[in-house]
Amino acid sequence: MSVLSAPPPGSGAVSPLSILMVASEATPYAKTGGLADVVGALPSALARLGHDVTLVMPRYRDVGNVGPVRQRLHLSLDGRRVDVGLVEVQVAEHHRVVFLDCDALYDRDGLYGHAGTDHPDNALRYGVLCRAACEYGAQLDSSPSIVHAHDWQAGLVPVLLRTQYATAPTWRGVPVVLTIHNLAYQGLFPADTMDTLDLPPSVFSIDGLEYWNQVNFLKGGINFADAVTTVSPTYARQILTADDGEGLDGVLRQRRHLLRGILNGIDTSVWDPQTDPFLPVPYAASDLRGKRDAKRVLLDRFGLPSDDDSVERPLIGMVSRMVDQKGLDLILEARNGLMGLPASFVVLGTGDRRYEEMWRALAAAHPERVGARIGFDEELAHLIEGGADLFLMPSRFEPCGLNQMYSMRYGTVPVVRATGGLVDTVRHVDAATGDGTGFLFEPYTASAMLTALRSALAAFLDRARWAAIQHEGMRQDFSWTVSAETYVQEYRNVIERRRIAGAARAYPPGE
Ligand code: ADP
Ligand code: GLC
Repeated sequence: MSVLSAPPPGSGAVSPLSILMVASEATPYAKTGGLADVVGALPSALARLGHDVTLVMPRYRDVGNVGPVRQRLHLSLDGRRVDVGLVEVQVAEHHRVVFLDCDALYDRDGLYGHAGTDHPDNALRYGVLCRAACEYGAQLDSSPSIVHAHDWQAGLVPVLLRTQYATAPTWRGVPVVLTIHNLAYQGLFPADTMDTLDLPPSVFSIDGLEYWNQVNFLKGGINFADAVTTVSPTYARQILTADDGEGLDGVLRQRRHLLRGILNGIDTSVWDPQTDPFLPVPYAASDLRGKRDAKRVLLDRFGLPSDDDSVERPLIGMVSRMVDQKGLDLILEARNGLMGLPASFVVLGTGDRRYEEMWRALAAAHPERVGARIGFDEELAHLIEGGADLFLMPSRFEPCGLNQMYSMRYGTVPVVRATGGLVDTVRHVDAATGDGTGFLFEPYTASAMLTALRSALAAFLDRARWAAIQHEGMRQDFSWTVSAETYVQEYRNVIERRRIAGAARAYPPGE
């Protein structure tokens, strides 16, 4: 297992970077949401730019048998020994995944929980992910150029690198970047987690990972990382405010000079209507007939009528975790108004019981016009993107959001709330000129959402106008190339800053 070596510090040479990523999910191996899409695609994009990426993640039950264990790490936690096997998969040249094999922790149903309840030992499961990633790096022959940790599950990586691993030779001077995909999930655990995870007592402080006498993985990551990024420029600004800071806005304001928003890309090889294996007929902007075929198959799949009249009727799609973040409370409030719209609905998602039940009840009450599928279904998600006319994302907050970008690429017009990455990716259709890629609404109210939907449905009736909006959306370039280059720029800035700060110094939190 080797990584490319970084150029000698100060040599000025621009050479490929070796990047060690740590994350809790990645396509195509294990996915609950957009984090997996990003961690699946970003390493490939970086490798295409010539960099070397190793991703460390758990081998969950979902991952299946990806190969033999070739090396073992023996971790010691609170006097207990935890053995973790390493299974390496070479995905492409310069791109590998190292799976952590530990059945006691990862071989079970559900990544983070099952049947609506979090796994009770998540602190240990992700504490081990972080520690094993640090230990794996410590045993490499040459140092990575940089470490990139994602979300709370990898939040202890910066903490460990600056404390217990600060003197490990391969970790000397190696900076770490933390990306926040969603500030609402922080990894909060009781104070005795400090002992369970063998964390140095000094970090249980206000400028470390202590949060109201609890252990907060994400806060630790923010305080110890050399740079913090989040997944859109607008969300980067929003999380500095009390309204959207989820209780960490003060911590983030202190570190704002290290915070940057880098917009996610999308994997244009997986999400492409011209090659999508889950669509009945491929299509492109120049000929959208295949989209109509997708709509008919989609209506059939949901058991909705698919005669010519029904195919003419506008179809609103949703693929979403059914939680407050995604605006499900707004939908609950607006459900009568929504059912009064001249449109049909197809909805796919899982989440809070009451929202699942709401959609089931709406489907039962309107069997001709509402189809609801409760579950996780990758194939159906693609078919909805292809077959729907409009895509609804009324998010209360949205760090980036990927589905609105998938929608535009599939000629499906997004109707979204003006927040976070939705603002940075969807351009409101100008009522006078018709220019734009979707429909945005500002206040988080049922009436604002219904007004936006009515405008979109009015536009739908004007075929030429609608086609122009579809084409404008399909023309957008959301591919990873630009974002991956921005990450590389960020990595290089951080490496340079760290070099100047003095490679051998183990600096305290809050600096
Ligand atoms: P988030 O990560 O907050 O859930 P994103 O828009 O970034 O939101 O990404 C969600 C991803 O998860 C998309 O790829 C979407 O298609 C997928 N997804 C969400 N729910 C489901 C589901 N029930 N079945 C299939 N895919 C889903
Ligand atoms: C999170 C966010 C979502 C973002 C995704 C990938 O799950 O909720 O907005 O697109 O991460 O960064």
